[in-house]
Amino acid sequence: MSSGSLSITLRRPDDMHLHVRDGESLRAVLPFTAARFARALIMPNLKPAVSTAEQALSYRRRILDALPAGTRFEPLMTLYLTDRTDPAEVDRARASGCIVGFKLYPAGATTHSDAGVTDIRRVDAVLARMQETGLVLEVHGEVTDPRVDIFERESRFIDTVLAPLAERFPRLRIVFEHITSRAAVRFVLSAREGIAATLTPQHLLMNRNALFAGGLRPHHYCLPVLKSEADREALLGVIASGDPRFFLGTDSAPHGRAAKEAACGCAGIFSAHAGLELYAEAFEAAGALERLEAFASAYGADFYGLPRNEGRIRLVKTDWDVPASYPFGADVLIPLRAGERIAWRIEEPA
Ligand code: NCD
Ligand code: ZN
Repeated sequence: MSSGSLSITLRRPDDMHLHVRDGESLRAVLPFTAARFARALIMPNLKPAVSTAEQALSYRRRILDALPAGTRFEPLMTLYLTDRTDPAEVDRARASGCIVGFKLYPAGATTHSDAGVTDIRRVDAVLARMQETGLVLEVHGEVTDPRVDIFERESRFIDTVLAPLAERFPRLRIVFEHITSRAAVRFVLSAREGIAATLTPQHLLMNRNALFAGGLRPHHYCLPVLKSEADREALLGVIASGDPRFFLGTDSAPHGRAAKEAACGCAGIFSAHAGLELYAEAFEAAGALERLEAFASAYGADFYGLPRNEGRIRLVKTDWDVPASYPFGADVLIPLRAGERIAWRIEEPA
């Protein structure tokens, strides 16, 4: 690093939306997150889904066992809400001390979501119990009706599911995950108290043209799908405003290359290798670098009622070359920006 490099030191951040998978995939990706984030909210969409407190505790143990020696990292667990979730599971989750919420996947919305909820009213008793105990509902906000235009599935979900749900359970704490659109920004800004949203690096840095730049780009395909430039600008507007209802959740979602580069490729972008650095680019582009720390390290913890982390991490403005791939069990993983450059790098403060 040249002595004149721009650098910023942040409180150690939290990734409030992360897929780490299991087994050798877990061991391949977890070190990237643990090198940057003190905690991460772990998505439960394994096969089979993590839908009971007992399963989440054993998954948490496997995550801790997969950490590189000497690494400190706290997985915050979520349970997968299904049509059959027992309201008593909410109390078991609460009692576990390490499960902070339930993830709502509309059935069929995305990768491994076939166990999801077919009609939100089927889980009313569970939601009522969550509202009582203060557990958070994390929502994948897209309708799954194949007749609805894919770019409108998020806004349709707001009108038909999320807005009515927020009214019916006025004290339920809700995180609208990985928001992608002007409609979602408008909804959160005008929503009642207790509603927040996460933002991914890909939705801040790219619009839907990135799916078709010079040809079909499967490694830019995720769900919700990238939206228009006007949508992206709305997301940049909220991060620049420093509104505490919007915080960091990478949605890093690793799939092996063979599953991505296929006739029917999987949704999911792997970004954990640069899970903080990519946001620094977005905040810098939005002219709001001074807002990054609160977005990454304060607002998420505050919403979840967790203490802010004590450690620090430094970001230095120095380009680095992203590898073309990373090992991923028997396959390889193609990271976001593979073979290209990222403008910021992380360093432990001296
Ligand atoms: C996620 C995955 O691969 O698990 N994919 C994605 O595109 N974001 C599932 C999800 O969170 O939708
Ligand atoms: Zn996700």
